[in-house]
Amino acid sequence: MRVIIVKNAEEMGKKAANLIAEEMKEKTSFILSLATGSTPLPLYKDFIKRNKAGEMDFSTVITFNLDEYVGLDPAHNQSYRYFMNKNLFDHINILKKNTHVPNGMAEDIDASCKEYEKMIDEIGGIDYQVLGIGGNGHIGFNEPGSSIGSLTRVKTLTDETISDNARFFEKKEDVPTQAITMGIGTIMKTKKVVLLASGANKADTVKAALEGPITSMCPASALQLHRFATYVITEDCAAKLTLNYETV
Ligand code: F6R
Repeated sequence: MRVIIVKNAEEMGKKAANLIAEEMKEKTSFILSLATGSTPLPLYKDFIKRNKAGEMDFSTVITFNLDEYVGLDPAHNQSYRYFMNKNLFDHINILKKNTHVPNGMAEDIDASCKEYEKMIDEIGGIDYQVLGIGGNGHIGFNEPGSSIGSLTRVKTLTDETISDNARFFEKKEDVPTQAITMGIGTIMKTKKVVLLASGANKADTVKAALEGPITSMCPASALQLHRFATYVITEDCAAKLTLNYETV
């Protein structure tokens, strides 16, 4: 596991963009899996800057988002489709038809989850996975207790996640209680992973994920078994780590 400690969230975004851009250069078609939430926003800003400067071309990139709330229409301003369009896709030269977000409105949700997983497999798998981490150690919406071998499916959100995400909604009761998420097993199949975390409030979680035991109670700890997982984290977020890591 590679751990890179950076000064602040802006540097975190830049560093992660560097890692992904290097990898993109090597491929004619690139399969990228993306997260939502506050943490990856500096990365998406950096992607937009590089794309506008002609340094990064997304015209042949295919994306798969990690997750989507069940019951939110893509046009809803808190849906993850809406988030991705607003914060990234509308500002880069990606083809919208090449962007995939799980369908939280599918009539047969289980079938649509299976189909999502199949699409990823059939395209040859994900080249680079971007992750954030929840306060409870979740990745995607794989809440504590999720099977480490799990594939794309519906998960019921924990109270902690509902409270964390209430900041994006008018009131807590508006937060959907279920979401479709790529599984931990889906994430483990990806070729490379970069997990981003910023802020002192994630310091305990990052310590548990990196230096604690591998356990379904801290889903991100499964990445200890991934062959190419990199954490890019801010200094304040790394404050509780005890081993020596790369500092830039
Ligand atoms: C969202 C996702 C979640 C978030 C996590 C952290 O697509 O995958 O696991 O990454 O909840 O959210 P923020 O970045 O808002 O702290």
